[in-house]
Amino acid sequence: MVRIAPAAAALLLFMSGPASPTLAQPRPARPLENIRTLKGWSGDEVRAEMRLMSEALGVKCEHCHVQGNFPSDEKRTKQTARRMIDLTVSLNAEYFPNQPAPAAGASRFGRVTCYTCHQGAATPKTGGTGDE
Ligand code: HEC
Ligand code: HEC
Repeated sequence: MVRIAPAAAALLLFMSGPASPTLAQPRPARPLENIRTLKGWSGDEVRAEMRLMSEALGVKCEHCHVQGNFPSDEKRTKQTARRMIDLTVSLNAEYFPNQPAPAAGASRFGRVTCYTCHQGAATPKTGGTGDE
């Protein structure tokens, strides 16, 4: 009979199937730490909106976030984005209330979204002779 050292046996046991929750399930997302404008949103809702915001501005997460530290408010663009979220939320509340619930995958902000103004640009175009 092959002798298995106790540590190796424990490792084999650990790796072998449903008794190992760390291998069987995806890691739960970290709870959010520094939410001021999107209060009451679930972590999944915040992350989904973040992806839409990035697309709307044509940027990567690092445009607003210090890499590896999403809660940090170090970047000026993140601080501006918070004011932009406020602006977007109040435009919808004041001028476009009673919108239908967002379709799957659509922004939760409502009728006016970051894309409405930004159209894929980090700074919206002005129009007229101001833009090429
Ligand atoms: C245009 C700026 C901007 C971009 C781009 C952006 N974020 Fe954010 N993100 C914010 C702001 C602003 C907040 C804080 C919202 C609040 O205070 O309610 C935030 C918060 C978060 C949080 C919550 C952090 C915490 O624990 O408090 C996560 C996670 C996050 N963003 C992930 C992402 C990911 C992933 C991407 C890229 C897909 C991304 N963000 C792109 C502006 C941005
Ligand atoms: C009503 C139109 C409008 C909406 C809606 C809007 N923005 Fe903006 N945003 C602007 C304008 C205009 C500027 C440029 C301001 C300036 O030139 O100082 C700007 C600038 C910004 C900047 C600063 C860019 C830089 O490089 O300094 C960020 C970040 C930003 N918006 C994020 C967002 C996000 C995120 C959303 C959605 C939550 C959003 N905006 C929704 C009009 C809008």
